[in-house]
Amino acid sequence: MTTLKNDRYLRAALRQPVDCTPVWMMRQAGRYLPEYKATREQAGSFMSLCSNPDLACEVTLQPLRRFPLDAAILFSDILTVPDAMGLGLSFAAGEGPQFARPVRSEADIRQLPIPDPETELRYVMDAVRTIRRELSGRVPLIGFCGSPWTIATYMVEGSGSKEYAHVKGMLYGNPEAMHALLAKITEASIQYLNAQVAAGAQALMIFDTWGGVLTPSSYQEFSLAYMAKMVANLTREADGRRVPVTLFTKGGGAWLDKMAESGCDVLGVDWTCDLRDARARTQNKVALQGNLDPSVLYAPPEKIREHVGAMLASYGQGPGHIANLGHGIHQFVNPEHAAVFVDAVHEMSRGYHQG
Ligand code: CP3
Repeated sequence: MTTLKNDRYLRAALRQPVDCTPVWMMRQAGRYLPEYKATREQAGSFMSLCSNPDLACEVTLQPLRRFPLDAAILFSDILTVPDAMGLGLSFAAGEGPQFARPVRSEADIRQLPIPDPETELRYVMDAVRTIRRELSGRVPLIGFCGSPWTIATYMVEGSGSKEYAHVKGMLYGNPEAMHALLAKITEASIQYLNAQVAAGAQALMIFDTWGGVLTPSSYQEFSLAYMAKMVANLTREADGRRVPVTLFTKGGGAWLDKMAESGCDVLGVDWTCDLRDARARTQNKVALQGNLDPSVLYAPPEKIREHVGAMLASYGQGPGHIANLGHGIHQFVNPEHAAVFVDAVHEMSRGYHQG
């Protein structure tokens, strides 16, 4: 195995000293980059881009050619797992994801298979292997999946949703069925992430995009408990180094203290929280990732730098911060503004890492 040339991200995830704060951006490979749009056009559809390891590798590397990012993230989607469970995923132009066969009944849940990562999801593992080879140790590669609750939301609704009528209807009306579904997704996701580590992923992230729509008690019972079960069953070492795990619940700021007890290494924080409070509430048990409002990147460079300065000051002295946006980068952001963000983190953070 090639040695890792830049391990700032892995060190910060374990709260070890670094020279400056590492930075990457959620959705760093995406439509704000003209070269991404060109490759996606070449692939035809989003899913054919994900399922072609060479093209998935190409778009993974595109943002790293432009910006001195400290981590690469596998180009794929959280919905590959339910697709492999037989739900029939498609992305209608401008409408987001759709499943042909949503899960609505106990019978539907019983029939769901647990996909074998090296067969049904082989294209993802091949992408991981290709990306690791092409990165040749430049930065670590982050693998990922959705949280069981977030995946269940898409599986039961059949698409994105505003009211969550079907999935919340199941949660409150038939909690046993909801638990049976979550248990199955959890098992599938553990196998999927462990296969990504075996294929070469050096860190893992669980995206809980819809955990924030739950009540405090239902969040613990239906989302956090299953993420904690996942964390307990993940491979935590590869190439002689710890594989850090990040949990990110969008809108989960109120529950960071509970999340910090899940056994994960890093918590993703969205922009509704102050990093200072987040750090106080998690008492340096975990590293924190985030949390610039992605909309700050619409502002001119000087303002972006001011907001980066405020974010770094809010986290304060010492290691344990991975700079990022509080959610994915928007498609209409000027790539030069993303460059300002990345450079500002590196330049302005050095003073927080002395002594
Ligand atoms: O971060 C990265 O660069 C890695 C790639 C990545 C994608 N999706 C690529 C993608 C990651 C980590 C995801 C995760 C994902 N996918 C999440 C969790 C993170 C979050 O944003 O909260 C969710 C909820 C999804 C489901 C999903 N995939 C939706 C709702 C959509 C459509 C939204 C949209 O912007 O159109 C996707 C499609 C998708 N996944 C795109 C990309 C780059 C855009 C597809 C395109 O090129 O048209």
